[in-house]
Parts: sequence; C-alpha cells; structure tokens
Amino acid sequence: MAERAAIVTGASSGIGLAIVRVLGSEGHAVTMASRRPDKLREAVARLSSEGLEVHGVAANMSEEADIKRVVAEHHEHYGRLDVLVNNAGVGIGAPAGEIETKRLDMQLSVNLRATVLFYRECLEMLRAAGAEHSNAIVINMSSISGKRGQPWLSVYSATKAGIVGFTEAMNKELGSQGIKSTALCPAFVDTAMTDFAKEHVPAEKMIRPEDIAEAVRYLLKTSPPCVVPEIIFQRPDEAL
Ligand SMILES: NC(=O)c1ccc[n+]([C@@H]2O[C@H](COP(=O)([O-])OP(=O)(O)OC[C@H]3O[C@@H](n4cnc5c(N)ncnc54)[C@H](OP(=O)(O)O)[C@@H]3O)[C@@H](O)[C@H]2O)c1
Repeated sequence: MAERAAIVTGASSGIGLAIVRVLGSEGHAVTMASRRPDKLREAVARLSSEGLEVHGVAANMSEEADIKRVVAEHHEHYGRLDVLVNNAGVGIGAPAGEIETKRLDMQLSVNLRATVLFYRECLEMLRAAGAEHSNAIVINMSSISGKRGQPWLSVYSATKAGIVGFTEAMNKELGSQGIKSTALCPAFVDTAMTDFAKEHVPAEKMIRPEDIAEAVRYLLKTSPPCVVPEIIFQRPDEAL
C-alpha cells in the first residue's frame, strides 16, 4: 500500500496537472481523473516519465457511475486516501435570458454535484486517514467568481459560491474527524480555460498554475489543528 495517496480530478491539464506534480513530489501516489482519455493518457505518461507514481482513470464528472468507478479504482490501486482534490470544472458564459438548460446542468453537475459525490464516496478512506494522522485534506476548486458574482458567468459564479459554502459546512461536519477542507478561489490563471480572455488580459499577467499548486504544498504541511477554509488568489489590479 502507498504511504500517502491522493485523487485529483481535472488532472490532465492546467491547475490540476500542476497540483499532481506537487503531490507526487511530496511522496503521494496519485489517481488522475479527467474526461478525455487521450489527453489523460498523455499526461499520465509524461508524469510517469518524470518518476511520479500516477494512475489515470478517464471519467466524466457529470456521471455518478464514473465518480464511483474513479474512487473504486483508486481504492484498488492504492488502498488509502490522504488528499482529495476536487478540481475538474467548466465555465460557460451566457446572458441571464439565454442560459441553456443543458449548459446550466453541466456546470452544476461538474462544478458542484461531483464534489458532493466525491466526498460521499471517499468518506470511509478519508475518515481512516483522519483517524491515522488527523490531517486528511480535501481541496475544492472554487474561483474568485465564487466570492463575487460575475455578470454573464452567473451560473459558474453560483456553482463556485456553492463550493465555498459546502467547504465551510464540511469543516464544521468533518473537522473533528481529522478531515480538513479548503476552497481555493483564484482570479485568472494561465490555462486553456482562460484562452478566451487572453486578448484582453495577456497570459503573462495571469496567475501561474504553479502558484495554486504551491498553495497545496503549504496545505499538506499545516499541522492538524490548523484549518485553512479558503485561499483567495487575486491579481494586482483586481482587488476584491
Ligand atoms: N483558469 C482560471 O482562470 C481559473 C480560475 C478560477 C478557478 N478555476 C478552476 O480551476 C479548475 C481547473 O481549471 P483549469 O483552469 O486548470 O482548466 P483546464 O486546463 O481546462 O482543465 C480542466 C480540467 O478539468 C477536466 N474536465 C472538464 N470537464 C470535465 C468533466 N465533465 N469530467 C471530467 N473532467 C473534466 C478537463 O479534462 P478534459 O480536458 O478532458 O475535459 C481538465 O483536466 C476548474 O474547476 C476551474 O473552474 C480556473
């Protein structure tokens, strides 16, 4: 059995990929879950060639059965779970009068519902890690849009605000069992998700995926009584 193990969703690119690198370098075996199998396979091969212990599971976070399969495969491979990173997410902009039900449902299910289901499915392993070392960590990817609603990204903002609220509730519910939850709330990060904005905000003016991943390294090193409910990452010209 691995000494420390983690699941990262949305692990095949951007912030999730950077977080897997940090977890791997801190001695964690990592199950990487994301949607497109080819892209995931390439990411897993790259990280394996860097010497990290990683296993890929292609899964759609909109599907409950896929989420159960990710957790079951992780358990089979690594037998324990010390860190869960609910990172997969999608943002689809639309004016309020033109929100399509299909896109509304997709954002609710990938950004919010999947996080709830992952907690439920992982709880037994997280409780075991919490009982062992009082430092089981769950990291939930919110956004600065979860702290201040964004026009035309209203559904995305609502899902990310939901993540902040759910994280707070999980700390109150599970904190005494050694399970600590943190919501990460970044402004623009230079990933594929922000390609649409790079005409107005150049990539070099955006936060780096590694900035977010280094926060995860910090969270791993906090002592058991230290709970960090949320971290906000903003750009110099974007005070909250
Ligand atoms: N970039 C930013 O400015 C920013 C700011 C605040 C918060 N965030 C949040 O950070 C998280 C990661 O985003 P990113 O910027 O790193 O973007 P990214 O590079 O596009 O990564 C998104 C990841 O999520 C996966 N994913 C998307 N839909 C999925 C689904 N239905 N099922 C399974 N996996 C799915 C993608 O896999 P596929 O490519 O195979 O779909 C990919 O691995 C998201 O939750 C996002 O909302 C991003």
